[in-house]
Amino acid sequence: MTGRIVITRSLTAAVMEEAQRLPGELVVLGEAPPERSALLDAVANASAILSQLTERIDDEVLAAAGQGLRIVANGAAGVDNVDLEAAARRGVVVSNTPGVLDDATADLALALILATTRRVVEADRFIRGGSSWIWGPQEWIGLQLSAGATLGIVGLGRIGMAVARRAHAFGAGIVATGSRATGAEAAALGVEAVTLDELFARADIVTLHCPLTAETEGMVDTSRLASMRRGSYLINTGRGPLVDEEALADALDSGHVAGAGLDVHEHEPRVNERLRGSDRVVLLPHIGSAGAATRDAMGRLAVRNIAEVLAGRDPVTPVR
Ligand code: DGY
Repeated sequence: MTGRIVITRSLTAAVMEEAQRLPGELVVLGEAPPERSALLDAVANASAILSQLTERIDDEVLAAAGQGLRIVANGAAGVDNVDLEAAARRGVVVSNTPGVLDDATADLALALILATTRRVVEADRFIRGGSSWIWGPQEWIGLQLSAGATLGIVGLGRIGMAVARRAHAFGAGIVATGSRATGAEAAALGVEAVTLDELFARADIVTLHCPLTAETEGMVDTSRLASMRRGSYLINTGRGPLVDEEALADALDSGHVAGAGLDVHEHEPRVNERLRGSDRVVLLPHIGSAGAATRDAMGRLAVRNIAEVLAGRDPVTPVR
C-alpha cells in the first residue's frame, strides 16, 4: 500500500506537475519551511518525504512517519540535515541531487571570487553612496586571477571540478584537495594535488567545496585562518558551519584576510553582524543552485528518486 507523499516546501511549477504523477496522496506543506510540529504531524503514514535543507530529518521525524516510510529524497546535494544513520537503522533509503547543480554552484563561486577580489560590491556601494570620484591609476586595485593568482579548492569533487574548469579559463593556478585532485581531468587543468595545510599556506583564494560532516565542521577556524597568506580571500558556497565566522571576522579586522565571499552562513539564516558590517565581505542568501534550469533539475531528480523507490527499484542517486 502506498502512503502519503510529503513535499515539505512547494517546488517549481514543472516539478510540481511531475510530482502529481507520483503514486499516493500528495501533501505539500507550503512555501516556507514548516514548523517542526507541522512537519511531525504531516509525515504520519508517509511513504516518501521530499525534504529541503531547511528541514532537520532526524530520528524523531522518521519515527513520526512510521514503518511505511520508504524514502527521504533530499532536494539538495548536501545531506547534513538528514540523520543518515537513523535512516539506515530504520531501513529508509536516502537520496540527494548530486550532479545537476554543479555548474550553477560553480558559476556562483566564480561570481563571489570575482566580486571579492575585484571589489565589485564594495565599488557598487561606493557609487551608490554618492561620493564624488574620478578614474585613477591607483584606485580600486584588486587581485587578478589571470595574473598568476593561486586558487585553492578544498574538496575537488564534482562542484570543485566545475570551479577548477572556470578558474583555469580565467588563468588561475590551482591547488586542490579531494577525491579528484589526482585524476586525469585535474592534471589537464594543471591542478596540483596538495595537503590541506599546503593549500591554506599557498592559495591567494581558498574556496570550500567539501561536505559538512563531524570532521569538517569548524575546519576554517582561528589557526586555519592564520595559516592563510596575508591578504588572501575566503569563499564559501558549501555549508556555513565549515567556517568559524567570529574567527573570520577577527581575521578580516586584523587585515590578515583581505576579503570573503559567503553564500552560506554558520547559523543560517542568521547572518553574523560583524561580517554584515564589513565592506570586504560579500554576503548572499544561499543561492548557489538557484539557476532556473538547475532548480527544475534538482526537483525532478528528487521526484524521480521517489518514483523509483515506490516502484520497488533503487533510487537514481542514493546517498551511500
Ligand atoms: C545543496 O544542494 O546542497 C545546496 O546547498 C542547495 O542547493
